[in-house]
Amino acid sequence: MKILGLSGSLRAASLNSAFLRMAAAHAPDGVMLVVDPAPGRLPLFNADLDAAPPDEVRRFRSAVAQADALVIASPEYAHGISGVMKNAVDWLVGDPRFVAKPIALVNTSPRAHLAQVALAETLRTMSARAVEDASVSVDLLGSGLDLSDVSQATDVRAAVDRMFVALAHACFPSMSVEHPDLPLT
Ligand SMILES: Cc1cc2nc3c(=O)[nH]c(=O)nc-3n(C[C@H](O)[C@H](O)[C@H](O)COP(=O)(O)O)c2cc1C
Repeated sequence: MKILGLSGSLRAASLNSAFLRMAAAHAPDGVMLVVDPAPGRLPLFNADLDAAPPDEVRRFRSAVAQADALVIASPEYAHGISGVMKNAVDWLVGDPRFVAKPIALVNTSPRAHLAQVALAETLRTMSARAVEDASVSVDLLGSGLDLSDVSQATDVRAAVDRMFVALAHACFPSMSVEHPDLPLT
């Protein structure tokens, strides 16, 4: 199972990006999570370019299409979706390959919830499929964890394991995925 990870923060010390890197490092057998740098590289959305988009947009759309599922970890800025993530998602509006794509939403700062609600509504409008059981809320901001310690926090690891199991189930409902270390291929 191929999963594409997207961070809505460009900070070098981003907690959202750290979460995705940690999840990628702890994906169970048969699951590959690749963190895509596209959100920081895509041009600003321009509907005039939608039909014949720049190369980076084409590559991004293709990576999304080829993924079985997405994991989106994105911060709240001023009670809204980060511009970086909204821009990335706007490039997917109307792409039929995005329809019904299972998506796990990650919130690394549970005191913030408005951006998550807004992003879920945007994805619903686009007919993507936010998978509630796979969506994760972990208080990395309040935990004071060093980024390199993120994987040491057992609650964070448990949340990541649950996320993979629920995403795998959303993608392949008939597959036995009760334990995250079961081979999923
Ligand atoms: C410009 C700006 C606006 C922010 N607005 C909010 C907000 O409205 N609500 C909130 O809970 N946190 C807010 N924060 C805190 C960020 O969500 C928090 O720092 C988060 O960890 C950033 O994600 P990152 O670590 O992946 O870069 C804001 C931070 C910045 C820089």
